[in-house]
Amino acid sequence: MEKDYHYIQEVLSPDFVGKRVKIRGWVYRQRNSKKMAFIVLRDGTETLQCTGKKDQLSEELFNMLCEVKYESSVIIEGNIKEDNRAPNGYEMQIENFTIIQMAETFPIQKDQSDSFLLDYRHLWVRSQKLTHSFRVKAKLLQGAREYFDQQGYVEMTPPIITGSSCEGGSTLFELNYFGKKAFLSQSAQLYLETLIFAHQNVYSLTPSFRAEKSRTNRHLAEYWHLEAEAAFLDLNGIIKFEDGLVCAMIHKVAQDEPKALKALGRDPQDLLNIEGPFDRIHYDEAIDIINKKGVEIPWGEDFGTHHERALTEDLKSPVHVTHFPRKIKAFYMKTLDGKYAEANDLLAPEGYGELIGSSQREEDINVIIDNLKRDGSKIADYEWYLDLRRYGSVQHSGFGMGIERMMRWVCNLDHIRDTIAYPRVMNRNTP
Ligand code: 4AD
Ligand code: MG
Repeated sequence: MEKDYHYIQEVLSPDFVGKRVKIRGWVYRQRNSKKMAFIVLRDGTETLQCTGKKDQLSEELFNMLCEVKYESSVIIEGNIKEDNRAPNGYEMQIENFTIIQMAETFPIQKDQSDSFLLDYRHLWVRSQKLTHSFRVKAKLLQGAREYFDQQGYVEMTPPIITGSSCEGGSTLFELNYFGKKAFLSQSAQLYLETLIFAHQNVYSLTPSFRAEKSRTNRHLAEYWHLEAEAAFLDLNGIIKFEDGLVCAMIHKVAQDEPKALKALGRDPQDLLNIEGPFDRIHYDEAIDIINKKGVEIPWGEDFGTHHERALTEDLKSPVHVTHFPRKIKAFYMKTLDGKYAEANDLLAPEGYGELIGSSQREEDINVIIDNLKRDGSKIADYEWYLDLRRYGSVQHSGFGMGIERMMRWVCNLDHIRDTIAYPRVMNRNTP
C-alpha cells in the first residue's frame, strides 16, 4: 500500500530519487530569491532542503513559500532529487505546499544567551544540538537495557519518596509528606539491596535528586540514575560488569547514532575503539599521580573536579579508582583492613569526571551501625535496612551511573544542561 506520508530519513535514499512524496514537519530555515524559494524542513528524523521554482508554481503557492515563518507546521509534497550541494545529498522539488499552522515570529534568533535559551527551553528543545543529544541519550539507555537483559538482570521500579537518606544529609531535598518529613530519593540503592533477596540481580533507572548548592557544569539537582545490585558478587565482579555495561552503551550509540555523535563533535570511532577491561588505580596511587601533576591533595581527601581532571585529562578510556579511605565513604560500603572501602569510582577520560559510584556492600551489621553513628544518622530510620543483614545476608555489590554524566563525556558537551531536556539547577525549575 502507498503511504500517505513519509519520514525524511526514509526518503534520503537512491530508491526515492524521482519519486513523489508528502512530508509533514516544521520549517527549520527559509530564504528566497526572486526566482527560487528554499525551505529546510525538519520532521524529527532528519532535515531536508526543499526548493520551489517560481516559474513552476502558481503565484499563490510561491508567495506562501516566501512568506512562511520559521517553525510553522507544514506539509510539503514534491519529487526527491539527488543533489550533492544539499547537506545530506538529497533535496525535494516542491510541487505542493500546505501550511498547517502559520507560526508567530519565533522568539529564538541567532546568538542568544544561555539564560534566554533556558527561559525558552520548551522551544529550544527543537534545536539540532538538543535533538542530537537526546537521540544519543535514548540509544545509551537502549544499549544499557539490552545489556542488563542479556546478563539476566531484572528491572525494578523503586520509590522516589523516601524516609531515609542513602548518600548523607547535605544534599537531601526535604518534603512535607502529609505533615511528616520525607525526602526525594538520592539513590535507589537501599531498595535495590532489598530486592536482590527476591531476584538476585536487579537494576533500575530512576530520577535521583541532589540539593547541590554549587553551580558547576556537571551537577544537576535532578538527574537520571541507572543503578544495579547483584547478590553473590564482590568488588572485582561488579567492576567487570561495569566495564561490560559501559562498552555496550557506547558501542550501541556509535553504531546506531553516528550522525548525531559527529554533529556533536564526537567521532563514533573513538567510542568503538574503547574496550574493557578498564585500568584500575588504587586510591593511594591516584593521590601520588595527582600530586605529581602539581594539583595538591592530601591523603584522605575525596577528589574534586580538578583532581579528577588531572588524573584523566590525557586518557582515552575510562579508569577505575579503587579503595578510597573508608572515612570519606558512605556507611554501606564494605570495609577493608579498617582503613579502606571496597569501592570504586569509574572516571571518564578527557577530564569529564565521575561516571559511576560503586562498592561491595558491608555485610557486618555492627560495622554498618558504627558507620551510621559516625554520620549522626538515626539507627531507627535504618532498621528495615539492617534487617537485610539479619535474614539471609550474602556478599553483594552494586553501583550507580549518572546518565547525564555519561552523556557529557560521550557527546563531548561542556555543560551538563545540554544532556537533559529540562535541567534542574539551583536557580531554575521552570519551564
Ligand atoms: O556516587 P553516587 O553518589 O553514588 C550513589 O548514589 C550510590 N548509592 C549508587 C549505587 O551504588 N547504587 O552517585 C552515583 C552517580 C555518580 O557517579 C554520578 O555519575 C551521578 O550519580 N551523580 C550526579 N549526576 C548529576 N548531577 C549530580 N548532582 C550527581 N550526583 C551524582
Ligand atoms: Mg560518588
